[in-house]
Amino acid sequence: AEDPLVIFTPSGKRGRVPAGTPVLAAARRLGVDLDSVCGGRGICSKCQVSPGRGDFPKFGVTVAPGALSAWNEVEARYDRIRGLKEGRRLGCQAQILSDVVIDVPPESQVHRQVVRKSASAREIVMDPATKLYFVTVPEPDMHEPSGDLERLAAALKEAWGIERLTAPLPVLSRLQPVLRKGKWEVTVALHKGHRDEAHRLIDLWPGFHEGRLYGLAIDLGSTTIAAHLTDLRNGTVKASAGVMNPQIRFGEDLMSRVSYAMMNEGGAAEMTAAVRDAISRLAAEIATEVGIEARDIVEAVFVCNPVMHHLLLGIDPVELGQAPFALATSESLSLDAAELGLTGLSDAARVFVLPCIAGHVGADAAAVALSEEPGKSEDLVLVVDVGTNAEILLGDRDGVLACSSPTGPAFEGAQISSGQRAAPGAIERVEIDPQTKEPRFRVIGCELWSDEAGFAEQAGTVTGICGSGIIEAVAEMRMAGLLDAKGLIGSAEQTGTDRCEAEGRTHAYLIHDGTEAGGPRITVTQGDIRAIQLAKSALYAGARLLMDERGVDAVGRVVLAGAFGAHISPKHAMVLGMIPDVPLDKVTSAGNAAGTGARIALCSVAARARIEAEVRRIHKVETAIEPRFQEHFVAANAIPHATAPFANLRA
Ligand code: FES
Repeated sequence: AEDPLVIFTPSGKRGRVPAGTPVLAAARRLGVDLDSVCGGRGICSKCQVSPGRGDFPKFGVTVAPGALSAWNEVEARYDRIRGLKEGRRLGCQAQILSDVVIDVPPESQVHRQVVRKSASAREIVMDPATKLYFVTVPEPDMHEPSGDLERLAAALKEAWGIERLTAPLPVLSRLQPVLRKGKWEVTVALHKGHRDEAHRLIDLWPGFHEGRLYGLAIDLGSTTIAAHLTDLRNGTVKASAGVMNPQIRFGEDLMSRVSYAMMNEGGAAEMTAAVRDAISRLAAEIATEVGIEARDIVEAVFVCNPVMHHLLLGIDPVELGQAPFALATSESLSLDAAELGLTGLSDAARVFVLPCIAGHVGADAAAVALSEEPGKSEDLVLVVDVGTNAEILLGDRDGVLACSSPTGPAFEGAQISSGQRAAPGAIERVEIDPQTKEPRFRVIGCELWSDEAGFAEQAGTVTGICGSGIIEAVAEMRMAGLLDAKGLIGSAEQTGTDRCEAEGRTHAYLIHDGTEAGGPRITVTQGDIRAIQLAKSALYAGARLLMDERGVDAVGRVVLAGAFGAHISPKHAMVLGMIPDVPLDKVTSAGNAAGTGARIALCSVAARARIEAEVRRIHKVETAIEPRFQEHFVAANAIPHATAPFANLRA
């Protein structure tokens, strides 16, 4: 008779296997994603499947009773001790006897994880560098003497096809007691990066260990450090937390930190120690938050700008402060967490740092490229990550260009008279009535607009205006005719509103007088407008420079990345001329794309290899030495622009 036919759902993969083949083995043979941690020992239950019954006209198959073997001792014992869900079988134990349709439930296909991306959710294939393996190790034998590590390596080769094993000392020192405690059964966490030849023993537990295997995706910014604690078995984010970057006390922005390193003996080392300490503490806090030990964290992936990158690694960043802005290395790095002085994590925890694109365009931009994949885009996409520096990528399947542009901190509310960081009490949205010239606004932490009943009670004190608030305010002022194309605020007579107050020889527009909800008077001054004009001109000029380089006048779509990008309204960005003119529905927000890129790299070794290759292909454009940058910058000073038509704004 013919071999039995097996059809797996939902994949639809099918094939014939010899009668008596275990379901797990059939899945392996047909390339069906069915999990297994214990290697088919009936211990982990990761291989659970739901066999179908009766007619499957769709497949032309009838599943007879007894298509799978009856429960064996292993499966029965598993059910007795741990309980198997109704209708479920252990794929490693149940054998295929006749034609059968087998459903693989989502929990058993943990190699898939949905990572949120800008426009759509995207599936990434779970392929973390660190995985768990269960194995039985032969006991030592007087007649054939060999070390425990060598016998473990041989057992791993036999059961899992692992070719080479190395063991760092802190883990090797625990090997003998763990093997004996587990009666020669052991679960090991092995790490293999995309460039490694050997698997590295990261951790081990006696017997079968259900696995606590966590990684951190860390977005190391100059202002904040954000970490996402991720379960490496399935990619879910267990918790996210952030702290201020303690290097702020050495300098608010990147260049002031580079100068601190230049001017002070040992200054770079001080900043390195501060950031490493903060990361170690953040790891401990986030672990406590979800009730695990920081020791269960076996891996961390970092994305950061070049200055943060060097300071994290303990490399003096002085070269990044002066032309030609040479990086110590632009390659990705795979290191021991201990080498980085990170404490509290698993003894042999590993660190992966994404590659940098150029001296001004860091691993954070590489992470954005990994998340947004401009190099795979059909239409020409401009990806802008706005922070104190804007990192800009322009590309499609024909190639990707990158630059960074010195926007300064105005977009984050710094250098603005009433500016502040995004925090409760900060004005984040502004509307100005074009007829009455009266403003209304919303503050962070309150759902009401300022002209709605109950606002004052709910909002509490209005403390200042944050980055998105100032952008909306300036754009609304322009649309309401309070501001001319050059960026000059009109007088009360010119604009017809007393809110335009004289301030020295210029004017300021009053947004909040402080009487109703308390707090300071909040105005937009001529100086604020200038600061925003400088920032937006730098951003626009960077984008234009890349467009020149590519030989185009327009882009197909724009993606705004970064925490800030998530809060800017595309319309207001366009009114200001921050970004090139495109139809408004072609402007989307990607949220924290750098953080998403870090998570992807944490969950997938293949993605690490991919971004490394991609970064080598990206063409870097240096804004600082490009004379056209200056021309574009000057032309972009007007609102929205001196010459570009911005036809989509009129529409
Ligand atoms: Fe572990 Fe089946 S593979 S129980």
